[in-house]
Amino acid sequence: MKLRQLFDPESSTYSYLIWDTHTREAALIDPVQGQVNRDIQLVRELGLKLKYTLETHVHADHITGSGIIRKALNSIVMVHENSQTKCADVQIKGGDFIPLGAERIDVLYTPGHTDSDISYLIPGAVFTGDSLLIRGCGRTDFQSGDAAMLHNSITQQLFNLPGDTLVYPGHDYMGRCCSTIAEEIAHNPRLGNGKSRKEFIEIMSNLKLAPPKHIHEALPSNLRCGIQGVSTQVGDIG
Ligand SMILES: [Fe+2]
Repeated sequence: MKLRQLFDPESSTYSYLIWDTHTREAALIDPVQGQVNRDIQLVRELGLKLKYTLETHVHADHITGSGIIRKALNSIVMVHENSQTKCADVQIKGGDFIPLGAERIDVLYTPGHTDSDISYLIPGAVFTGDSLLIRGCGRTDFQSGDAAMLHNSITQQLFNLPGDTLVYPGHDYMGRCCSTIAEEIAHNPRLGNGKSRKEFIEIMSNLKLAPPKHIHEALPSNLRCGIQGVSTQVGDIG
């Protein structure tokens, strides 16, 4: 399996293009709408067949490119079943796996930042979305976030992966590209380095962060795969 890490400077979001080298079937994790032309061009230049766009969750800080990319490349949109994203082609859940040529992508349900977080696992690497960030983690104060649940997801699932597993997060605001599970167990200031569950929950309830700038635009739009004017049931997210 090969991989390219892509970056959106406006939202500090990482997208990831992964593909099976034999069949050239590819998946794009967390595409950003403002970068769809770049991403489509890269897929074409590399001679890949984009089978899927995979969301790690319903994003509050940027609009997904999944709907536009589906139109251009005929890819299948996958999102966790809790997301109420009616525009998705397939609603997935923890324990599922996604075939990619001769390879597979395993779906880990890692909620807590939202109630629809997925981490995608491939041999040697995990794409953690906003569940586990480098030396941090996603906030838990909206979108059905829950600090205790996020602690479970990270310590019981992600921290149980082999220590040399590469961690590719959904964002980084300090220019770091990736980490490893062992590094995060040792150095993550929120829940690594021997921090207790109680300390983690206390840290998370005292972050006092401002809401993301584009949340009111991003959430409803992402429930339509970023496409305007497609009717959907927004439900109670946000
Ligand atoms: Fe997020």
